[in-house]
Amino acid sequence: MVTRQVASVLIYRSDFFVGKRKYMETKQTRYSLLNDQAQSLLDGEHDLIANMSNLVSLIFNSDQNINGTTYYRLKNGELILGPFQGKPACVHIPLGRGVCGTAAALKKTVIVSNVHKFEGHIACDKDSNSEIVVPIFSKNEFWGVLDLDSTKFNYFDKNDQEYLEKIGYYIFGI
Ligand code: SME
Repeated sequence: MVTRQVASVLIYRSDFFVGKRKYMETKQTRYSLLNDQAQSLLDGEHDLIANMSNLVSLIFNSDQNINGTTYYRLKNGELILGPFQGKPACVHIPLGRGVCGTAAALKKTVIVSNVHKFEGHIACDKDSNSEIVVPIFSKNEFWGVLDLDSTKFNYFDKNDQEYLEKIGYYIFGI
């Protein structure tokens, strides 16, 4: 008998996951696939770190234009680095500082089309050119942020915002 976990891994490896995809697809198509992958991997899983780790990996590997996918959680009045994919990232971000700290202070999504023009931007990867940071809430309390970087300018839009604001909830169990 194939257990649910084994079945998930099989689905993950065979049907869906083809590595950093190079062909063009609409964001809706990509996020729809990501949604299926996330459900397959996370359904019934309740470990926060395991779920965050798998989600950042799924997102990072879903698109060759994404060079960083990072969780930061609120702890003792500042953002602290969580599970991520990409280049090493700074561990502490004060509220109000950089794109992440700004999104955390506002508790709202921040989309930056050109990070080089964003005052106070914290550069973890010199190849990043645009960024989106979405807030994550747990039981209506602000919990932290999810940060995506792209090597392309002006890469993130309302489609990313709409999907990523929802996907954040996966880490708390679906
Ligand atoms: N660029 C972010 C810092 C985090 S790294 O990109 C992972 C910022 O300005 O807050």
